[in-house]
Amino acid sequence: MRNPTILASGILGVSGDMLIRAAHGGAGAVTSKSCSLEPRVGHPNPTVIESEGLMMNAIGLSNPGVDEEIRELRRAIKDAGVPVIASVFADRLEEFAAVTSRSSEAWPHLIELNISCPNVESKIGMPFSCSFETAAKATQLARSSTKLPLIVKLSPNVPDIVSIARAVEDAGADAICAINTVGPGMAIDIQARRPILSNKTGGISGKLIRPIALRCVYQISRAVKIPVIGTGGIENGKDALEMLMCGARAVGVGTAVYSQGPEVFSKINQELENLMKKQGYSKISEIKLVD
Ligand SMILES: Cc1cc2nc3c(=O)[nH]c(=O)nc-3n(C[C@H](O)[C@H](O)[C@H](O)COP(=O)(O)O)c2cc1C
Repeated sequence: MRNPTILASGILGVSGDMLIRAAHGGAGAVTSKSCSLEPRVGHPNPTVIESEGLMMNAIGLSNPGVDEEIRELRRAIKDAGVPVIASVFADRLEEFAAVTSRSSEAWPHLIELNISCPNVESKIGMPFSCSFETAAKATQLARSSTKLPLIVKLSPNVPDIVSIARAVEDAGADAICAINTVGPGMAIDIQARRPILSNKTGGISGKLIRPIALRCVYQISRAVKIPVIGTGGIENGKDALEMLMCGARAVGVGTAVYSQGPEVFSKINQELENLMKKQGYSKISEIKLVD
């Protein structure tokens, strides 16, 4: 990668052209929006709320399905000029194999497994990311379905993220991305006396979740040998440096792309470079905490 910033999944990555825009904005790699085997409509509007320091979304993983996604990925791989990461998800275990294998037909540089979605086969629709058994099983199924490097993206909404990280490493993950959205949370329209989001609840992202992301990355990077992509609330070079100090080897940027545009990547990289010079670092691998 030309720099350590990565476009996080779900933001701009809905089409090949948007992925290319993020790359032109300075991203070192770009991740597509999570795609499933079949098309998925998602939740009705309103699906996104923005307020001071946070965003809440309940898009419901709408996507055109893997056939269409392969075309968009090929478009991005041809012209983005940076590594393209294809994000995939499923709502039943055996589909993780099929969606990973189909997405690999586009030859993205890496596959990212989004395991934060509910498992429709569990009685209460518990997300795969919430138990180390289902997280590991989804990883194994994806691992045996592609030769491409595999990132597994973890949810912070668990009591012990370290045991999940170890389980997916043992199951064959080549890297971990932490974290997906926090919550879910809720926002109320007091005039209408209803929740604002049609789904009532949504995942929280942006500046306010950064302390949680830093803690997760700190704990995971000390427990596993594979690299960690630190994602959650990064808006500037100082935020990126803090994440790298906690043990991340690259940083994902999502919500800040909404508020600052794709040029946020060049800005973060410039600020990070200045800070690294000031602190005497010549490469990312030198950045660490003193403990
Ligand atoms: C509108 C929106 C859509 C998202 N869609 C996805 C998705 O499809 N797959 C996924 O793995 N993460 C998705 N995420 C989570 C982000 O990739 C990221 O992990 C999270 O927002 C934290 O980073 P941030 O604070 O920089 O946004 C989405 C986030 C937002 C705000």
